[in-house]
Amino acid sequence: MARAVVAGNWKMNTSVAEARALAAELRESIGHMEGVDRVLCPPFPYLGMVRDAVTGSTIAVGAQNMSQHEKGAFTGEVSPGMVAELCTHVILGHSERRALYGETDEAVNLKVEAALKAGLTPIICVGETLAQREAGAAEAVVERQLVKAIDGVETPGALIVAYEPVWAIGTGVPATPDLAADIMGGVIQRVLESTYGATAASATPLLYGGSVTADSVRGFVEQECIHGALVGGASLRAEEFAEIVRTTAEVKG
Ligand code: PGA
Repeated sequence: MARAVVAGNWKMNTSVAEARALAAELRESIGHMEGVDRVLCPPFPYLGMVRDAVTGSTIAVGAQNMSQHEKGAFTGEVSPGMVAELCTHVILGHSERRALYGETDEAVNLKVEAALKAGLTPIICVGETLAQREAGAAEAVVERQLVKAIDGVETPGALIVAYEPVWAIGTGVPATPDLAADIMGGVIQRVLESTYGATAASATPLLYGGSVTADSVRGFVEQECIHGALVGGASLRAEEFAEIVRTTAEVKG
């Protein structure tokens, strides 16, 4: 059985003071829970500060991206080693990186390999656009993204996969639990099973992402094949994020 995981993707939000306050508040409310892993993913400049703010709790910290390169002349980039010095997780292949920064399946694959080599747990994001879904290509897109992301990856134990349909991200309209379960318990599970075998596949946490709120999370995590959530907007509201975590713990516990 996969662990339950709730990760907060703060995206490019918060000031130093806001990030510190948010982390401190979450440390108080959800800093010492069992049964659900909690991961905060602030912007790069705040990784160290947020890590310090949650030290002594069981909250983990993650980055939202990283370079696939180890070091060198890559102006503006952040290496896997730099990320690994400050935190334990890294979101890779988020649809905003794919759409706005031209991140390809190949680049995501290199980043997944580099993250694992650095000892990080990658949260691999996959998901179709509305046009792809309407064209009946949702499954094929998710399959291609996941197959390529884990190509050559031999250590499934450290992976987390997030299904984030692009049309549900930041829209306030999440997918339905049935639709998400269709993809997650379907093609995603199939790809993991055929790559790693049933045991390792069933131990890989699968997160739903896309307009998750305290109100909508229950329906998703009640699905057996959904182990948690990757939360954007609602992760910036301490009380709501804590509620999402509590609901997930209650349902999965
Ligand atoms: P959202 O973002 O919860 O604001 O839709 C989710 C994500 O992009 O990870």
